[in-house]
Amino acid sequence: MSKETLTITDNRTGKSYEVPITDETIRAMDLRQIKVNEADFGMMTYDPAFTNTAACRSAITFIDGDKGILRYRGYPVDDLAENASFLEVASLLINGELPNKDELAEFARQVTTHTFVHENVRTVIDGFRYDAHPMGMLVSTVSALSTFYPEAKQVLDAESRRLQMIRLIAKMPTLAAWSYRHSMGMPLVYPDNELSYSANFLSMMKRIAEPKYEAHPEIVKALDVLFILHADHEQNCSANTMRCIGSSRADPYSAVAGAAAALYGPLHGGANEAVLRMLQEIGSPDRVPEFMKSIKDGTSGRLMGFGHRVYKNYDPRAKVIKGLADKVFDIVGVRNPLLKVALELERIALEDEYFVERKLYPNVDFYSGLIYQALEIPVEMFPVLFAIPRTAGWLAQWEELLIDKDQKIARPRQIYTGEDERRYVPISER
Ligand code: CMC
Repeated sequence: MSKETLTITDNRTGKSYEVPITDETIRAMDLRQIKVNEADFGMMTYDPAFTNTAACRSAITFIDGDKGILRYRGYPVDDLAENASFLEVASLLINGELPNKDELAEFARQVTTHTFVHENVRTVIDGFRYDAHPMGMLVSTVSALSTFYPEAKQVLDAESRRLQMIRLIAKMPTLAAWSYRHSMGMPLVYPDNELSYSANFLSMMKRIAEPKYEAHPEIVKALDVLFILHADHEQNCSANTMRCIGSSRADPYSAVAGAAAALYGPLHGGANEAVLRMLQEIGSPDRVPEFMKSIKDGTSGRLMGFGHRVYKNYDPRAKVIKGLADKVFDIVGVRNPLLKVALELERIALEDEYFVERKLYPNVDFYSGLIYQALEIPVEMFPVLFAIPRTAGWLAQWEELLIDKDQKIARPRQIYTGEDERRYVPISER
């Protein structure tokens, strides 16, 4: 039987070291014994952006980027998108198993009970300028929630953690919708606890003068599916931020604010907005070949909504969203003309040597913006719509970190490239 170890020879000293391999991985700390002399600090690894470093063991989400597989707790995401509700998936992510009927009813009851926010949050929102970006307001107001729940600091108390997780899942749609309403100069709408999670969010966004706003059930279902598809994606930039902040034992409201701030960036949750702007710029399918040429010769930047750090195959979420787009367009009665541009872009890219060679396929952001646009949701809200469901994933990652005995406060090393020690020079001599 082969031995589960790795032998490393340090050619500087001629010494060999044998380090154990567990889960196809060696421990970075096992390299520290590799030294040229006693005074040497020991060998480290250099891995900017963690491209080849596992920072945790996780049982939440599995991705096989080459095969285009995404599973939450073992369940394929397309299976969940077709059969489950978002709250069922949120419960699955944070509890580890699909809830039975009673458990789901209880989970939904708890979430529904916590949809309202303290009235003072209104004044926080009122303090923003009329044109404030809703994502900036969401990041700030979720952070402000930590001041309303000081007991949330008890992060090692399982019961307190559970309560904060329910509150966060429940209140994110309220904060998100209120941020949107403020940016539109419209009165804030309170939660309607008779509605489902997604239906209530649509009501808080869209209700005007009608006593009750009930969106078309297929639109509610479509939003629920989009929420499911965005619920978690293992150790991405925002999940890593959540874990990093959580590792200092900060309260979960502050940690979610940090994770949402990471999501705000255009290389992460902001890409769907860029896709939409790109499709608008192309304008019509006949202009696609010319545009593709400019991408390949480097004059138009990147094809937004294409390519992914881990998927080197069709993003499984994009497949589901593409089908969903048709359904939504049928219901709203408007076929977004940009869909034709998107389909033509995809057709050409999937045949083109440049994209095939680099394994560049449509990602989750390629079609989602078209659906949001059909629902008359402005582009500034796209990252906000991503943050609502991703909160469930962030919280699952956060709790897993806190109960993991291997984890400590996150604190990477550096390779110092600055000056060696030097003496202060008085300003008159400089
Ligand atoms: N259009 C054209 N060429 C591309 C693209 C693209 N969208 N993406 C990668 N490439 C090329 C890149 O130029 C490079 O070519 P070469 O080897 O000739 O230099 C090669 O493919 C490898 O690219 P990379 O930059 O090493 O890949 P990465 O894993 O660092 O980047 C990415 C991943 C998502 C940042 C990148 O594909 C990209 O910028 N895509 C467009 C933005 C986008 O759609 N982002 C949403 C990601 S999904 C949502 C989320 O999870 O947050």
